[in-house]
Amino acid sequence: MNSTTLPRFDLYAQIHKALRLAMVDTLARFGSLDAGDAGQRLEAIAQLRMLLDLCRAHVEKEEHHVHPVIEARCAGRSLRVAAEHVEHLAAIDALEAEAVAFQCAPDAAAAFRLYRHLAVFVAENLEHMEVEETVHNAALWSAYTDAELLQVHLAIVSSIEPGAMAQVLHWMLPALNPGERADLLLGLRATAPAAAFEGALQVARLRLAAADCARLERALDLPALAA
Ligand SMILES: [Fe+2]
Repeated sequence: MNSTTLPRFDLYAQIHKALRLAMVDTLARFGSLDAGDAGQRLEAIAQLRMLLDLCRAHVEKEEHHVHPVIEARCAGRSLRVAAEHVEHLAAIDALEAEAVAFQCAPDAAAAFRLYRHLAVFVAENLEHMEVEETVHNAALWSAYTDAELLQVHLAIVSSIEPGAMAQVLHWMLPALNPGERADLLLGLRATAPAAAFEGALQVARLRLAAADCARLERALDLPALAA
């Protein structure tokens, strides 16, 4: 592989994998929901709220940390995506209102309507993320070095509160492939406070299948928890 084909630092890849998993999992949960089961209903609504909080925070991070970087050297290149963010924030508000209405009047028709509206939101976001990973990355890669993009990434990560980070990792760790997962934890161990690494490891042990968890522990040279 010569230097022109080496993969570039991708600001979007891992967080978008997390978002895609959170979106499709939440959508599937609403599709199979028994609207008459109060426990299932509350869990589904709580997961939807978590997803919407995650999406809102993600838009804010991109607007605050990524778009100014694109505009500084590729003026106008983030305008389409920025306009879509305005629509997404409105869709998030509408889905939140619909979730409240469903909670107050839970019936199967309302559950199905919410499921369909969530499906449209997911579809729009899947296409949107593809534009970011192609058009935006092309702009970023043409105008910035990987070292500069890493600084943008570190600024984003350091701006996330611990509670919100746990939510991100809840979806990101199972969404990543084994190599990405190991690199993420190795990076945390090398650069973050010990509590952050331990917290991430705890999320991994809760969220990963036993074989995936054992593979991660081997990559980190940790003793496996299970005997
Ligand atoms: Fe976005």
